[in-house]
Amino acid sequence: MNTVVVGAQWGDEGKGKLIDILSKDVDLTVRYQGGSNAGHTVIVGKERYVFHLLPSAILREGKICVIGNGVVVDPKALLEEMDGLKERGVKVTPDKLKIAVNSHVVMPYHRVLDGLREKMREHKIGTTGRGIGPCYADKVTRCGIRMVDLLNPRVFSAKLKDNLREKNEYFKKVFDQKGFAFDPIYDEYMVYSRRLKPYVCDTALYVNHAIDKKKSVLFEGAQGAFLDIDFGTYPFVTSSNTTVGGVTSGSGVAPTRIDNVIAAVKAYTTRVGEGPFPTEFDAKMDDEIRAKGKEFGATTGRARRCGWFDSVLVRYAAVTGGFDELAIMKLDVLDELKTIKLCKAYKYKGKILNDFPHDYEALCGVKPVYEEMPGWQQPIGAVREYKKLPAQARHYIERLQELVGVPVKYISIGSERDEIIVR
Ligand code: IMO
Ligand code: MG
Repeated sequence: MNTVVVGAQWGDEGKGKLIDILSKDVDLTVRYQGGSNAGHTVIVGKERYVFHLLPSAILREGKICVIGNGVVVDPKALLEEMDGLKERGVKVTPDKLKIAVNSHVVMPYHRVLDGLREKMREHKIGTTGRGIGPCYADKVTRCGIRMVDLLNPRVFSAKLKDNLREKNEYFKKVFDQKGFAFDPIYDEYMVYSRRLKPYVCDTALYVNHAIDKKKSVLFEGAQGAFLDIDFGTYPFVTSSNTTVGGVTSGSGVAPTRIDNVIAAVKAYTTRVGEGPFPTEFDAKMDDEIRAKGKEFGATTGRARRCGWFDSVLVRYAAVTGGFDELAIMKLDVLDELKTIKLCKAYKYKGKILNDFPHDYEALCGVKPVYEEMPGWQQPIGAVREYKKLPAQARHYIERLQELVGVPVKYISIGSERDEIIVR
């Protein structure tokens, strides 16, 4: 059985926790897009782990983790993550981690460009500053440097020279910055090359051969459907296909080999960075839910913007992502609320919109149409069986399921591994 887990909102849906639980029963876990902009949190007992590039399943013994070709790999960030885990007693060895030979490498100038472009924009995206956009841009422009290039000093040197020739002009003329010298980057990246070499292979062949041998694979999505470069709230998105489509091009595994798509959603909505957010709370409610849900970015520490659950968004994500099952995360954050609202449609210029509008002005101008229902006003963290949830909580889940049109399979009611209800 090969399963994909994606986020169906703006990221931070709790994919890390879900993947950690599901990875217990699979052989391989594969990241297929994004880079160190992701922040997947896993809590095991008193230990809290945040993964940026490594698949969250790296904590499980005997499981193989793959960084697919669709990921943009920052070798510095990856090695820091691996070293950090080693210090905590989790060894990352070449038999456990495989990195795609054709994945693209994040360079120092990508990180700097990310910041400079952001500074210059009038409508800021609020990127994580990890160089993700510029690295993907170079991939598409065909001047990117791949992992395989990094392993060949002659190829790496030629490509780096080419890039610096062009980019340093850009740094000077557009940003009035002096740019980068060749030697320090070359020396730094040759160290990364030596350290990462044992992990690099053709992961597309590796994963497909594993599937041939009836191994099961879990594809770990990063970010969420509305950060998707094609289907998201463009331009306030990330630079990769975060929805199911990314699996195929980002891992080399054909859609015919995917059996199940699980979408993670929060019981409410959050967003980090800029961009339209129709169901965003007012300031008081925003502070309350942020405090209860600990809604601070796992990568940048920024406060997440919070709002009610938006079924217009998730319904669209379900269509474009072909969701089979939903996982509702962080339901317990709503425990104390007297009333809870669910957005079922938008109103714009006197008309009801049931579908996500792509026009920027429409998306900024829509008014959510809410259904209000009573809260359960009691803690639910100890519940392990669906039927033992308070009636109001079951009602909320069932109405949400009806509005989105996808069955709810998992309900998370706390941050610990075992705090989950399986329906
Ligand atoms: P996980 O995997 C939430 C957001 C940034 C910004 C936009 C573009 O933890 O859900 P980028 O640095 O990717 O160019 O920034 O995307 N963003 C995320 N928001 N969770 C994430 O990952 C995100 N990764 C990027 O805040 O608005
Ligand atoms: Mg996150």
